[in-house]
Amino acid sequence: MNRLLLGLLLCFSLWSHTALASVLAIDYGTDWIKASLMAPGVPFDVLLNRDSKRKIQSSVGWKKEDRLFASDAFNIAGRFPQDSFSELKYLQGAPFDSPTTSFYASISTADLIKTSRGTVGARRTDGSEWSVEELIAMQLAYIRDLAESTLNGEKVADVVLTVPAFYTQHERDAVIDAVEIAGMRTLALVHDGSAVAINYAMTRTFTDKPEHHIIYDAGASSVRATIVSFSSVDAKSKTSGTAIQVAGLGFERQVGGNELDRRLREILVKDFEKKHRTDVRSDKRAMAKLWKEANRVKTILSANSDASTSVESLTNDIDYRSKVSRSDFESACRDLTGRFVKPISDALANADMTLDNITSVILTGGSSRTPIIQAAVTAAVGKSRIAQNVNADEAAVLGAGLHGAALSRQFKTKDIRLTDIAPYDVQVSYIAESKSQGSKPRTINTLVFPVGSKVGTRKTLTFKRKDDFNLKLTYRTPVLPGYPSDILEAELKGIPEALQNLTEMGAVDPVVKATVVLSESGFVSIQDAIAFGEIKDDSLTGKLKSFLGGGSSSSEEATTEKETAVRSESETSSSSSADPSATAETKPVKKDNTIPLELNVKLASIPPMSVAEKRAARDRLMAIDRLESGKRAREEARNSLEGYLYRVRDLLEDDSTESPFVKCSQQAERKAMEQKLQESFAWLSEHDDDALTKDFIAQRSALESLEQPIIHRYTEIQEFPKALNVSQMMNWSARLFITEAKTNLTAAQDSEIPPRYTKEEIDSLEKTLKEHEVWMNEMVEKQKRVKMNEDPVLESSMLKEKVKPLETQLQKLLKKKAPRIPKKPKTTTSSSTTTTAKESGSASSDSSTQGHDEL
Ligand SMILES: *[C@@H]1O[C@H](CO)[C@@H](O)[C@H](O)[C@H]1NC(C)=O
Ligand SMILES: *[C@@H]1O[C@H](CO)[C@@H](O)[C@H](O)[C@H]1NC(C)=O
Ligand SMILES: *[C@@H]1O[C@H](CO)[C@@H](O)[C@H](O)[C@H]1NC(C)=O
Ligand SMILES: *[C@@H]1O[C@H](CO)[C@@H](O)[C@H](O)[C@H]1NC(C)=O
Ligand SMILES: *[C@@H]1O[C@H](CO)[C@@H](O)[C@H](O)[C@H]1NC(C)=O
Repeated sequence: MNRLLLGLLLCFSLWSHTALASVLAIDYGTDWIKASLMAPGVPFDVLLNRDSKRKIQSSVGWKKEDRLFASDAFNIAGRFPQDSFSELKYLQGAPFDSPTTSFYASISTADLIKTSRGTVGARRTDGSEWSVEELIAMQLAYIRDLAESTLNGEKVADVVLTVPAFYTQHERDAVIDAVEIAGMRTLALVHDGSAVAINYAMTRTFTDKPEHHIIYDAGASSVRATIVSFSSVDAKSKTSGTAIQVAGLGFERQVGGNELDRRLREILVKDFEKKHRTDVRSDKRAMAKLWKEANRVKTILSANSDASTSVESLTNDIDYRSKVSRSDFESACRDLTGRFVKPISDALANADMTLDNITSVILTGGSSRTPIIQAAVTAAVGKSRIAQNVNADEAAVLGAGLHGAALSRQFKTKDIRLTDIAPYDVQVSYIAESKSQGSKPRTINTLVFPVGSKVGTRKTLTFKRKDDFNLKLTYRTPVLPGYPSDILEAELKGIPEALQNLTEMGAVDPVVKATVVLSESGFVSIQDAIAFGEIKDDSLTGKLKSFLGGGSSSSEEATTEKETAVRSESETSSSSSADPSATAETKPVKKDNTIPLELNVKLASIPPMSVAEKRAARDRLMAIDRLESGKRAREEARNSLEGYLYRVRDLLEDDSTESPFVKCSQQAERKAMEQKLQESFAWLSEHDDDALTKDFIAQRSALESLEQPIIHRYTEIQEFPKALNVSQMMNWSARLFITEAKTNLTAAQDSEIPPRYTKEEIDSLEKTLKEHEVWMNEMVEKQKRVKMNEDPVLESSMLKEKVKPLETQLQKLLKKKAPRIPKKPKTTTSSSTTTTAKESGSASSDSSTQGHDEL
């Protein structure tokens, strides 16, 4: 961690004066969610949950009405098997009618339903139905809330998510849909292996000779291998950035830690059924308990040769106790060994490499420490190739955060240039134009993005077509049983008219061009379609140009021309450009020989959610949030009332005469409070369940208004002496000032220089002082007769108010500048001056002054 921070050079770029937005990175795994937060002024690290844990269980659930997250949601599966949802990652973008969904149904106790889009949802016991995207969105929002509370409520909207490289377009769509339902924006999707590579490169330097590593990720639901090549961006400069080229991918879907858990649970189920001759499979609660137990036992077996298992009251009140040996477990999983390591050989083949090219194999993923998997990998690659001392546990989510920081361009990080690749062959298909009447339509398939194509590229396809036609983007081979191959279909319209217009403008053999894009986040789309024709140039240079090879191709097959990389995301993503090597399109297109065509994109068999669907889902989630915060507010108001009632009860029960409450209250007041208190207790026990937040508040206020005068008296007892002291101090200062000023005045008159304070000023202050004194004497006398349990006649606030004029006047005089002493020679001219004569005053007011003129 330390090294990572050192290598980071994390600081904020100076040119950005707009508010810095934070970037949340989420590694949404089958079993665990990890998140990291890149935010101004916060050290970059893994986000902690409320219990300071660094990973968060990927679960959401309901305990009756209350929604729960993380381990709270996971742990209630044994009691509420149909209201606890975990391992939902399996179902992202999965067709309901697919082996994936069947497998999920075999490990989960959820009640699955088919959505209108053909994907998977779940029905809670209260009958409400939730799509997988909604359930995942709730978890993403939960993570966002954690991030926002880390930032003291500052909003977090931009998110980078890791996805397995093997995710199809439909699965990627499902990820982005969930992000949007959660009210966030997807900055990018990054393959988890690539994210690990980014994190790895952050603290290391490389030469211009590429170094190849395998990142082997054993997760809960799949195992995958990514071959990455690291090299320096610029060989001459040691401090230059690092280029990461993904060279090969290999993966096995649906064989991972959960498959081991499932097999272990099978051992337990069979063992139980044999011992107790009782069916357990049909008991959802029991199956959920055994699922959790299998995972626990697997962990024990990682370090021990056998493990005891114990589940109380598993089914039919039978306590299940048994023992499982590691060898039994391992022989039940023996057939998986080959599948654990196949991704490595696939990735090597994909990269056209052998193990000899590989510097090290970096193990990551929650299941990579499972002995069976570790042994299989070690046997396949050799012990010496396994990277030691690389802590890759959090590498993916940290790497994703660094990737997001680079994309947001608001944080300065080491220059790391990732070039990722696509996992599947993508082809474009269309029906050939029939050459003759009645000939059979022929479908033409052209590979646009073969496996290993760099992401962030686009290709332009050229068609010699006369009529409108459709283009289809599909995976060349089925990606997974039951999963659709079609990605999208687009209708190109207005071709005949556009071609005719071009011909009229003088174009020779105009053609149709369509641009297909493979975005940085791995989405393919058709960006645009145009009709294009070179306008005949009758000038000599024009003729020369066409003679030298400007002739157009005449084949009907689409021809592809590779152009510079341009990021193009799905409708949902942000606009920032990720790839620093990407440059704007350089090929100038003459306006007058290009006519845009109408492009109607039609939905694939598993379309992304529509805007309306997403909005409806978002509204649903927000309604829950509102309900929950309303509930929290009600709970707070209720608890506050209850706490207050008990406090008042204690006050009333304390009859020691020393208690301030008793001292400051009257018998009748206490009686009234007692009565109201009993009423409130009765009200609370009757309306605990149906009262509204405002009712609790009203109950509290009613009793409080009875207590208020008593509290006030008590506060006054403490505040009054302080305020009185202030007034007395002011009285004393003013008196002192007046005495001094009068003396100075007399002295000034004697020496015939202008006095600092005139007689009028002094008299006016003295008048104010006198009034204040009279008022104080009178009020203080009255207050003396007030008992502690009576309302005060003279309040500290009144004292503070009344002393203000005196204070202001005195301050004003103190701030007054001394008059300049004129440097005139002394004259004998008499001037009118004043002096004071002291007379003895009454006892209460010590002095009264009287001025008289003197000649
Ligand atoms: C892999 O190793 C072989 C043999 O050493 C070598 O010929 C080949 O160029 C290497 N491939 C890469 C991609 O480095
Ligand atoms: C073709 O030209 C006509 C006449 O100038 C114009 O109205 C029409 O919009 C043009 N169509 C296209 C597709 O450019
Ligand atoms: C009154 O206030 C002054 C100055 O703030 C302080 O020194 C003095 O102790 C106080 N007297 C009483 C009785 O609180
Ligand atoms: C005001 O101060 C004088 C002495 O400066 C004192 O005799 C008199 O009691 C004071 N009056 C009040 C109300 O504190
Ligand atoms: C009175 O005169 C003395 C000496 O010049 C001076 O320090 C003091 O501030 C004067 N006081 C008043 C109230 O004018």
